[in-house]
Amino acid sequence: MEKIQLHEYYIPFKNVKRKVIYHFSDSHLTEFDGLCSDAEIEKAKKATAAWEDVRKGFCDVSGEGYGDLQRQAPIVHLENLLNASADGDALIIAGDTLDYISDANVRASDKALKGFELPYIAVCGNHESASLFPEGHALSGMKRDMQVCELEDMVIIGIDDSQRKISRELIERFTKLLEGEKPILLAMHIPIMTDGNYERLSKSGVYFQLNYEGCPQENFEFIDLIKTNSENFIAVLAGHLHYPNISEITEGLTQYVSGQGITGNINRYIIGE
Ligand SMILES: [Fe+2]
Ligand SMILES: [Fe+2]
Repeated sequence: MEKIQLHEYYIPFKNVKRKVIYHFSDSHLTEFDGLCSDAEIEKAKKATAAWEDVRKGFCDVSGEGYGDLQRQAPIVHLENLLNASADGDALIIAGDTLDYISDANVRASDKALKGFELPYIAVCGNHESASLFPEGHALSGMKRDMQVCELEDMVIIGIDDSQRKISRELIERFTKLLEGEKPILLAMHIPIMTDGNYERLSKSGVYFQLNYEGCPQENFEFIDLIKTNSENFIAVLAGHLHYPNISEITEGLTQYVSGQGITGNINRYIIGE
């Protein structure tokens, strides 16, 4: 049996040496272990059961089917996705790695990422509250609203847009980063609504849009910054939808939304010359 569902993309980009970047999201761990109380175990079991229907529903939306591969436990998917990423140059985990913050989920993600040797950025999803997430763990980077991972000739920037709100202060720091020489691969959880995915996302509702009608003005300004500096960006990577979606943000700049990690979806990008 195949362990993962691999989606491959080639992104030509001048002055960047060939790299392989992996990207997945939404593995929604619902773990419990021997250190949990009865109430914690019950909560985890209920959440796991609830996700059986939800993840199958998203499989129906994307037409991916729901067989033995998809039905594996969320933690098995996370381990398989991390193993599949091992031959890359970097990994982006685009949010909702945990279904909710709990000691058992933090322990499970620490264990899964222990020994993972590639540079990685894990951004915060709406299921993970950055302020509540503890420090000192494999996923604690999500506490930062902006994370920067420098590679030799490109930079990965992770943004916390999990509450569908970009702050003025983040825009100021992001604007300074745009003055850098290296092209940017941008990662965040909630996708941008574009001309290309408008029909799909507008039907799905504002919950699935960073630039929803009535959103903070800063959200539009943030997206305008990306558009007006589009030549500095290699691509934008997001999650949250639970089905794959690819569309142009502006001419020459594509947003790749990953399918759900909770059924084993992972994107592999070959970037560069
Ligand atoms: Fe999710
Ligand atoms: Fe989400």
